[in-house]
Amino acid sequence: MIVRTPPMGWNTWNTFGENINEALIMETCDAMVEKGLRNAGYQYIVIDDCWSMDERDSEGRLQADPVKFPHGMKYLADYIHSKGMKIGMYSCCGPRTCAGYPGSLDHEFIDAKFFADNEIDYLKYDYCYHPRNLNCSTLYNRMRMALNATGRDIVFSVCNWGDDGTLEWIRAVGGDLYRSTGDIEDSFRSIMDIFNSQINNFALSGPSCFNDMDMLVCGMNNKGNVSAGGCTFEEYKTHFALWCMAQSPLMIGCDVRNVDDDILALLKNPDLIAINQDPGVRPIIPVNMFNEERYPAYAKHLENGEYAFSLTNLEDETREVFLILADMGLPLDGHWGFKLRDCITGEEIDRVAEDIIKAEVKAHSTKVFRGKLVRVR
Ligand code: GLA
Repeated sequence: MIVRTPPMGWNTWNTFGENINEALIMETCDAMVEKGLRNAGYQYIVIDDCWSMDERDSEGRLQADPVKFPHGMKYLADYIHSKGMKIGMYSCCGPRTCAGYPGSLDHEFIDAKFFADNEIDYLKYDYCYHPRNLNCSTLYNRMRMALNATGRDIVFSVCNWGDDGTLEWIRAVGGDLYRSTGDIEDSFRSIMDIFNSQINNFALSGPSCFNDMDMLVCGMNNKGNVSAGGCTFEEYKTHFALWCMAQSPLMIGCDVRNVDDDILALLKNPDLIAINQDPGVRPIIPVNMFNEERYPAYAKHLENGEYAFSLTNLEDETREVFLILADMGLPLDGHWGFKLRDCITGEEIDRVAEDIIKAEVKAHSTKVFRGKLVRVR
């Protein structure tokens, strides 16, 4: 199965860590439907680490923790499927998962069958405790083959943090998305560090090969498992805008049962999601600003011939920022300009942008525009 656009969904880890259970998953699934997130495109409910018993059963199979998941995983899969969504689960290449539960090393085929028997649609596969005598690509190739052998379509979410030359072999071994960095934290610094580390790595992104910059922290407000001070709303906006421009998977990490209205609207923003889901999956082009360090800006070709632009302000105050169109090759002869829409507010900009795109951007915020190149005169 080809995964044509970046997977979208929700994952337990960022907010709940090991504190997961059946009721949480069902309530979250309900909230995703009731709050319009499913219809906005968020499809997968992913149960991360800490779902299993400490030991396998007498036949070597993984077993769900009966206190956390009293009806087992197939029950949840049925519930999630009945709501028109899909279910993801988690395991690890090593003998133990990152949190110390049984990992899939040397049990790949039996575990893949367990996931398929439970009608799981997506597997996140981690890299803790991996053996040093087997290389990373072999371990991921082995699990991909095990998943394929089940005959069930299962999205393969590789989570080896970009280690061991991932870009060289990730397409070969059949990963559909690959974690390119260490774990995100709920802070603006973590968001920008992750994004900056990947600016030159998007060329490989395409169907069934999405650069996964980790789950979203939007709306976490410094509560949960990856707290590190939290972010302002404008910082969460920058996070979401950049993950959309770069076409990273969009896995919500906050408690959607209690999500703030402004965050919910951001996560459902149709223009930003359309950029994230653009079938062309063209990498972003860095475009010069008068001060690139403080005002990073990117352009992107979209499949219908339009273009998207993002302008970020890293200063601590509102600033007027300028994106120089000549820097992406637009002739300076005054004949061409961009007719744009502000993707976050939905406002159509009357004035055609010639030579520069100019915008007032709040501290640590990002503006995103989309539109056509038009003949001016
Ligand atoms: C690793 C992964 C995280 C999460 C935890 C679970 O750190 O990178 O995304 O899955 O393990 O223990």
